[in-house]
Amino acid sequence: MLKDEDGVLTGPMATALEAEFGVSARIAPQDYIMNALIWVMKDVGVAFRHYIEDGRANALAVKAVLEKFDGARLAAASAPLSLLDFASGYGRVGRHLSKLMPAAFYTAMDIHPTAVSFNRDTLGLDTILSHNEPELVVSDRTFDYVVALSFFSHVRRALFDKWLQALHRLMKPGGMLIFTAHGRESHDATMPDVAIDADGYGMMKTSEQFDLSTDYYVQAITYEPFVVAAIKRIKGLELVAVEPASWWGHQDMYVVRCVEEASPSAWQRAAMRISGSVRYFAGRARRTLGRFVKSATGKSQPETPPPSI
Ligand SMILES: C[S@@+](CC[C@H](N)C(=O)[O-])C[C@H]1O[C@@H](n2cnc3c(N)ncnc32)[C@H](O)[C@@H]1O
Repeated sequence: MLKDEDGVLTGPMATALEAEFGVSARIAPQDYIMNALIWVMKDVGVAFRHYIEDGRANALAVKAVLEKFDGARLAAASAPLSLLDFASGYGRVGRHLSKLMPAAFYTAMDIHPTAVSFNRDTLGLDTILSHNEPELVVSDRTFDYVVALSFFSHVRRALFDKWLQALHRLMKPGGMLIFTAHGRESHDATMPDVAIDADGYGMMKTSEQFDLSTDYYVQAITYEPFVVAAIKRIKGLELVAVEPASWWGHQDMYVVRCVEEASPSAWQRAAMRISGSVRYFAGRARRTLGRFVKSATGKSQPETPPPSI
């Protein structure tokens, strides 16, 4: 396997996969998902192909779910709707989804700054940096769709409602949240020794993201009654559907509608305004720099996606 000057995995296999799948097959060396695949599959080539192939399958599945539950709105939209891939990782799914769903403008959000810069600079995606504390996830932007694949499968019990609230703040009224979680099938198939409490929550203090503290990120199991009760506690969110074990053969999928805007606290509202101003001035600075570069060199800056915050 070859690496380029930035340490990104490249080489003949990447070139072949790019030709086959029509997306960048570059993979960041810090990508723990790829690490886990190599560990499970014991073969870098097989893991590399699976990463790209399964990313595409997942992107197609997200598209199918949105069409199934919100097809009329997608078809009627005169301009692209907005889609946030929360906990995007290093664009395993996003590199495909951003191309397969032109009806939605794609934004990737993750806790790892290296994932944000890889997604932005190597994959050319719009990005937002997240935070470990759900209360501190504030943005002036809201989205028609929020997708969180394999994130709630890692959430500590005490943070479960807070993460639902955080994602609610990122949703437009009428918008939809799709997320996956480890349910009964994941429990039986992947972590049978984990004890589940009376409410339907259990966890193991470990994860594939070796650099993330288990204070925030663990292997969590959440039976359907636990998740459904959590959704019911969030005013403004409404459960639309649960599809047990429909992801990767074991994770449950939840489809949730934002029926009423979230009500951020006073300081969160203030932070949202600041984030909007930062984005506005960053955009202006970039346009000014672009004009300066063009007048000095005669060359235009490459097209960049909307500003990240
Ligand atoms: C199991 S991976 C799933 C990645 C991606 N959704 C996929 O399916 O390939 C979980 C992701 O959650 C991200 N993550 C963990 N804590 C986060 C947080 N507080 N905010 C946003 N992302 C977070 C990790 O960095 C990692 O990329």
